[in-house]
Amino acid sequence: MSPLNGKKIVLGVTGSIAAYKAADLVSLLRKNGAEVRVAMTREAARFITPLTLQTLSRNPVALDPWEAPRDWEPEHVALADFADLLLVAPATAHIIACFAQGLAPDLLTSTYLATAAPAIIAPAMNCKMLTHPATQANLATLKARGNTIVEPAEGPLACGYDGRGRLAALDEILAQAAARLA
Ligand SMILES: Cc1cc2nc3c(=O)[nH]c(=O)nc-3n(C[C@H](O)[C@H](O)[C@H](O)COP(=O)(O)O)c2cc1C
Repeated sequence: MSPLNGKKIVLGVTGSIAAYKAADLVSLLRKNGAEVRVAMTREAARFITPLTLQTLSRNPVALDPWEAPRDWEPEHVALADFADLLLVAPATAHIIACFAQGLAPDLLTSTYLATAAPAIIAPAMNCKMLTHPATQANLATLKARGNTIVEPAEGPLACGYDGRGRLAALDEILAQAAARLA
């Protein structure tokens, strides 16, 4: 049986061109028996609709912290408490910087700070954004803090460059999630 079976996963989706891959990731997580709740940033919703992720995850999608919560509990605290694992895929340079610096301007960043669950972060971005010393320093901070970073893959990038920055293969992300939960 998959180590993901019966586990509660909060999938953070951010404003990367790779956000469409989150749809397949939700399906794979569910196929492995996980319960998935998606928290997406406003920018992520420009790339993939909340409706798609809501339908595939079979759970409401959390996006706006100012919306009336379904319960008395603020949504970021409810998500933080729900999670056995916080998986952020794809993770933008921006969200990685927020996490590293403890900034909490939105629902996903607030959830990151509020949860005691382990975090797995799968970056996806332009190769120069990835190798920028600021991004590398932020990733090093997150690693030092015990977060798992799923290294991006090399290849042709949507921005036209060829290099490292593609979201890691979904199988690889799944394997890291399973390892973290085993
Ligand atoms: C077409 C397009 C594609 C983008 N792809 C990425 C990406 O893959 N990775 C990234 O870090 N930023 C990317 N960005 C920039 C982010 O969307 C931007 O930094 C945004 O503020 C991120 O917000 P979020 O981290 O709150 O989701 C892209 C922007 C555009 C317009």
